[in-house]
Amino acid sequence: MNQATEAQRFDIAAPSYVRHKKLLEWVAGIAALAKPDRVVWADGSQAEYDRLCQEMVESGTLRRLNAELRPNSYLAWSDPSDVARVEDRTFICSDKAEDAGPTNNWEAPQKMRATLNGLFDGCMRGRTLYVIPFSMGPLGSPIAQIGVELSDSPYVVVNMKLMTRMGKEVFDVLGDDGEFVPCVHSVGMPLVDAHGNRRDDVAWPCNDTKYIVHFPATREIWSFGSGYGGNALLGKKCFALRIASTMGRAQADTDGVGWLAEHMLILGVTSPEGRKYHVAAAFPSACGKTNFAMLIPPQAYKGWKVNTIGDDIAWIKPRTDPSTGRTRLYAINPEAGYFGVAPGTNEHTNYNCMASLRENVIFTNVALTDDGDVWWEGMGEAPAHCLDWQGRDWTPEISREQNRKAAHPNARFTVAADQNPAIDADWDNPSGVAIDAFVFGGRRSNTVPLVTESRSWAEGVYMAATMGSETTAAAAGKQGVVRRDPFAMLPFCGYNMGDYFGHWLGLGEKLEARQADLPRIFCVNWFRTNANGKFIWPGFGENMRVLKWMLERIEGKGEGVEHVLGVTPRYGDIDWTGLEFSREDFAAITSIDVQAWTEELALHSKLFDQLQERLPAVLPQIRDSLRQRLAA
Ligand code: GTP
Ligand code: SPV
Ligand code: MN
Repeated sequence: MNQATEAQRFDIAAPSYVRHKKLLEWVAGIAALAKPDRVVWADGSQAEYDRLCQEMVESGTLRRLNAELRPNSYLAWSDPSDVARVEDRTFICSDKAEDAGPTNNWEAPQKMRATLNGLFDGCMRGRTLYVIPFSMGPLGSPIAQIGVELSDSPYVVVNMKLMTRMGKEVFDVLGDDGEFVPCVHSVGMPLVDAHGNRRDDVAWPCNDTKYIVHFPATREIWSFGSGYGGNALLGKKCFALRIASTMGRAQADTDGVGWLAEHMLILGVTSPEGRKYHVAAAFPSACGKTNFAMLIPPQAYKGWKVNTIGDDIAWIKPRTDPSTGRTRLYAINPEAGYFGVAPGTNEHTNYNCMASLRENVIFTNVALTDDGDVWWEGMGEAPAHCLDWQGRDWTPEISREQNRKAAHPNARFTVAADQNPAIDADWDNPSGVAIDAFVFGGRRSNTVPLVTESRSWAEGVYMAATMGSETTAAAAGKQGVVRRDPFAMLPFCGYNMGDYFGHWLGLGEKLEARQADLPRIFCVNWFRTNANGKFIWPGFGENMRVLKWMLERIEGKGEGVEHVLGVTPRYGDIDWTGLEFSREDFAAITSIDVQAWTEELALHSKLFDQLQERLPAVLPQIRDSLRQRLAA
């Protein structure tokens, strides 16, 4: 039977407010392929959210937490095989392999489509297909982009409600023929086989075969086999980073400049005198974006205030302010919620985050305490007993004996952004906020100093492009291995990384030629350790001290010295009020070891070799000049 005739068998039950013919045809086509029992159009209402959560409580996917301790909140435990992003199963299927580049997995679009057609054929049998309309960015604003995700996971529906502007209002914006990014998702576990045999569902359906696929040419996303995080909430990494990064680059072909989709938090920082600055910072997964975005300055820093615009993704576009004539980069957070790392979060490390999590939260893969609340490593004193993220008995003794964690290291919470007590007044502003500084930082136990200011846009691009970081639990695979993670975008760039560097360089050049006020670029490392493997820098709220130095630099007041890599503060250039931090420790986290940097530059060269086909020539030139400075 061909798709069109089979589609007629399906009542996709479209509500009357959906008038978009192409969308209706697409939904009918996917339904005909995946063969769900029914199609449900998500309206984004609270009643729908509550009903789906209740259904998932009944099916065993969710547990309702203690209504007094954690009102209106739920806990999900995933399958132990489905706990993080799967980078080796993530594909960029551009027409030509070179356009995906050597840092992405690629397959020919036609071949991949054949694979996906096979996998999706009947994959939703016995399940409900949910149509999830969502907007990345404020609904109806000129910077927003619309997506529609078709998913057989109710867990995805409720998470998308918290993470995006999701609901039927999206169809008002779409009208009869508006543009949207089609996103198809299945957990890949049909409840009925091709012969009609039914099986029981499980609490967390998924499939050992996983595909996270992007077609940049048609701006489509297909995801199969996983229900977890960025694998399944397709507005986030798949759309807002991989597809959006290709959109921003393509725009440069039209207007000469384009825009940027980045793995960055956005924060607003206000001085005691009331001057406000905005900083966008790229750290790799599980390296401190949520923490930095919600930072509470040390008590001694009276009158300083930090507010959150976003904690994970930034869309950044140049704009000329008609009143001042100044061209600047403006950033918006396309998301509407946080999907953040739970372990390590507590009232001291991130008070605002804990305050955001008091109610209306979906927790995934944290531990369940005996009184029906949640716990994770680093939250505070361990309970005498709890159930770990796999539902097994856990006590501090069991933990010691079996070296078993109560929460999975990539356990996460999903919560709407407006629950953050430190949310910025402009977080939802469609115009975005003007960026004063970009900050790049990896997780490095050695080599990389606390903070360096680049001497130029191109040197800043170099520092970001060559950034290394130790791998974390946010992605499946080995942890703690240093790898190059350019711009914290290695897993998220939807096109050739060499072209991406070129896009950043080109955007800077074009804007400089227009006398734009470009942000300063800084590089940080909070993670240097001592001989005992302990972090030397106290981090968290104390990162404010580094942030203040950056702002002083921007204001032209901050002192520093030039070293091999750029400008760095001396001990006396940092405001230490209220903290005892010795000169020796400061030296330990700011020192530049010639041997280590010689090896580091060799790793930069290795990255450049890998990317040589599309590598902008200025980058190896900068490396050569750094090498000369190092030798001198
Ligand atoms: P994704 O959501 O995966 O993109 O990550 P993220 O960058 O938002 O990570 P998050 O802020 O949630 O940080 C995760 C881990 O980093 C936690 O274990 C924190 O304890 C740790 N962390 C955050 N900030 C600091 C810091 O300043 N110093 C140290 N030592 N650890 C930090
Ligand atoms: C990351 O891994 O960088 C995340 C979590 O922000 S996920 O949405 O799962 O990609
Ligand atoms: Mn992230």
